[in-house]
Amino acid sequence: MRRATTVVLLSFTSLLAVAQTQGPNFIYEVACDAIADVISSESDVYYPETQEYTSDNFHWALSSTTNSTCTVEPGTAEDVSKVLLVLGVTRTPFGIKGAGHTANPGYSSTAGVQIAMTRFTEVTYDAEANVARIGAGNIWDNVYAGLEPYNVSVVGGRVSGIGVAGFTLGGGYSFKSNEYGLTVDTVVGFEVVLPTGIIVNATADENSDLFFGLKGGFNNFGIVTTFYLQTHPQTAVWGGTIVTTGVDDEVVAATQNFYNNVTDPKAAILTTFNYDAALGMSITEMTLYYNAPTPPDGMFDDFIALPSLTQNVSTRSYLSLILSTVEASDGLRGYFHTVSLYDYSTSLLNAIVNETEFWRGQLESDVPGVFISYDVEPILPSVFSHGSDSAWPPSRENGILPLNIYYAWASPENDTLINHIMAQSADYLTQIAVAEGQDVAETSLYPNYALYNTTMERIYAGNLPRLREIKAKYDPFNVMGLSGGWKF
Ligand SMILES: Cc1cc2nc3c(=O)[nH]c(=O)nc-3n(C[C@H](O)[C@H](O)[C@H](O)COP(=O)(O)OP(=O)(O)OC[C@H]3O[C@@H](n4cnc5c(N)ncnc54)[C@H](O)[C@@H]3O)c2cc1C
Ligand SMILES: *[C@@H]1O[C@H](CO)[C@@H](O)[C@H](O)[C@H]1NC(C)=O
Ligand SMILES: *[C@@H]1O[C@H](CO)[C@@H](O)[C@H](O)[C@H]1NC(C)=O
Ligand SMILES: *[C@@H]1O[C@H](CO)[C@@H](O)[C@H](O)[C@H]1NC(C)=O
Ligand SMILES: *[C@@H]1O[C@H](CO)[C@@H](O)[C@H](O)[C@H]1NC(C)=O
Ligand SMILES: *[C@@H]1O[C@H](CO)[C@@H](O)[C@H](O)[C@H]1NC(C)=O
Ligand SMILES: *[C@@H]1O[C@H](CO)[C@@H](O)[C@H](O)[C@H]1NC(C)=O
Ligand SMILES: *[C@@H]1O[C@H](CO)[C@@H](O)[C@H](O)[C@H]1NC(C)=O
Ligand SMILES: *[C@@H]1O[C@H](CO)[C@@H](O)[C@H](O)[C@H]1NC(C)=O
Repeated sequence: MRRATTVVLLSFTSLLAVAQTQGPNFIYEVACDAIADVISSESDVYYPETQEYTSDNFHWALSSTTNSTCTVEPGTAEDVSKVLLVLGVTRTPFGIKGAGHTANPGYSSTAGVQIAMTRFTEVTYDAEANVARIGAGNIWDNVYAGLEPYNVSVVGGRVSGIGVAGFTLGGGYSFKSNEYGLTVDTVVGFEVVLPTGIIVNATADENSDLFFGLKGGFNNFGIVTTFYLQTHPQTAVWGGTIVTTGVDDEVVAATQNFYNNVTDPKAAILTTFNYDAALGMSITEMTLYYNAPTPPDGMFDDFIALPSLTQNVSTRSYLSLILSTVEASDGLRGYFHTVSLYDYSTSLLNAIVNETEFWRGQLESDVPGVFISYDVEPILPSVFSHGSDSAWPPSRENGILPLNIYYAWASPENDTLINHIMAQSADYLTQIAVAEGQDVAETSLYPNYALYNTTMERIYAGNLPRLREIKAKYDPFNVMGLSGGWKF
């Protein structure tokens, strides 16, 4: 354990006395100035109308962006510690951003102090331990690129641009999950700055309760600065994307055949049914993945045979596969939601296709820029057998296959409507799955996909009491409650 350099807190008492007579923004400004005073030259504070301020506040979905009072780019764990101490003493709201891909408003943004972890860019490889040391400001693209020279990789994101931090702290469904489990199942350690200012490691042996909590528990305990992830050998892979329109029956059949017949853990697909108002048409996108330079004969033939608008499938590096899947949000607002499934049937897949068509009909004339997306992720039901004991999932009895629902739109006037529709659509599909015999009415929802007003019980279930105890131990003054997100 290292204790952070002591921050001179006495001066805040007098500052706070002044602040009592001003509004909350004044207090936020005081916090910004105090942070600027205590951090080292490795770190910086930025104010509006600078390029750094804009990029620090940037989020993938426009609805997740807030203009903060200032932003901080800490460069060392010690400076993160000082920042947290100032925020705790001044009780200033703050946001912690990895790569800002949450589609829940306020989960990594704030009107107070925006912390952007962008300077934590380390990607190093310990060949003896088969462990990668990954700074909390990385996106997966950089991690794959950094590990490529060693012919190893990690269980990480499937789409370009996603942050390591939020992805890993929430679970992490990867193309490699059939082989190795969720990303949390491959974490061997976290370095984390606690709100008391102390910097600790959390592993299976050291602070093991914190280790358990961080594997799915996001920012409830502190700010993670480094992730230690298991690595696996990486050759070239085979795969890429196929885009079609007007052949959803064939896409459903190909997806169903793959789901029913392919148990090879090196194989994975994503099938996404979209309606895009900007194009005025329904577009279906499939991503194919096989963890070897050539897939077994016939495995993906149904997909390759589809009449397509574009096809970008080849033997390539893992990074190149990820780069072929860029998902732009085009400056739109956006929410995610999810249905937890144990199984896929053709009638359920058809109901999912119908949701995109039904809501397109309801929304296209009234909701400018609407984009409707249902992403089928047919992973192996054995996915949870690779790990144990983590904040999420709360039970490993049945593998959860999360359906990802994503809506985007242009106007803040439509926020409430979209929230209602996404909740209604998820409920409807849940009922269909239940009617087909799946026991999913109360199944835990994946926190990286669940819509913001989902209850904590619905996500963390039986783990909640234990998580609340761990939180009280590591964050006795609820400093982390000043930042947004799923809160124990
Ligand atoms: C296009 C797209 C594709 C996606 N694909 C997948 C996928 O294939 N599989 C999957 O599982 N998920 C996927 N997701 C969901 C993704 O896992 C979440 O959005 C994830 O939270 C993003 O991480 P981030 O660091 O970019 O997010 P951020 O918005 O920066 O952070 C998310 C949460 O983590 C907290 N946090 C961030 N950094 C830290 C830190 N250092 N310490 C403590 N707390 C921190 C934030 O405060 C916030 O509450 C996808 C999302 C998008 C937009
Ligand atoms: C943030 O401020 C900029 C510059 O003033 C403005 O263009 C932008 O719309 C604001 N963003 C939000 C989300 O309020
Ligand atoms: C990685 O694999 C390539 C191709 O097989 C090989 O040429 C290279 O030497 C390997 N590099 C390392 C560090 O093993
Ligand atoms: C955490 O562990 C790493 C690797 O063993 C070590 O380099 C680092 O100093 C440790 N950090 C703390 C705060 O103990
Ligand atoms: C795969 O599963 C489907 C059911 O979806 C079945 O009809 C088909 O015969 C199977 N195909 C192969 C090649 O086994
Ligand atoms: C295919 O994907 C690669 C990235 O992996 C990209 O550079 C290339 O432009 C894509 N090709 C087409 C035809 O879209
Ligand atoms: C299509 O979806 C709507 C909305 O969920 C539902 O009311 C309708 O019954 C569905 N139609 C079919 C054919 O499944
Ligand atoms: C959606 O937003 C548009 C544009 O602001 C507005 O005209 C419309 O009334 C809104 N519709 C609903 C149902 O919220
Ligand atoms: C979330 O809010 C929407 C809209 O108010 C509502 O329909 C839905 O039931 C809510 N979900 C939960 C879990 O409270």
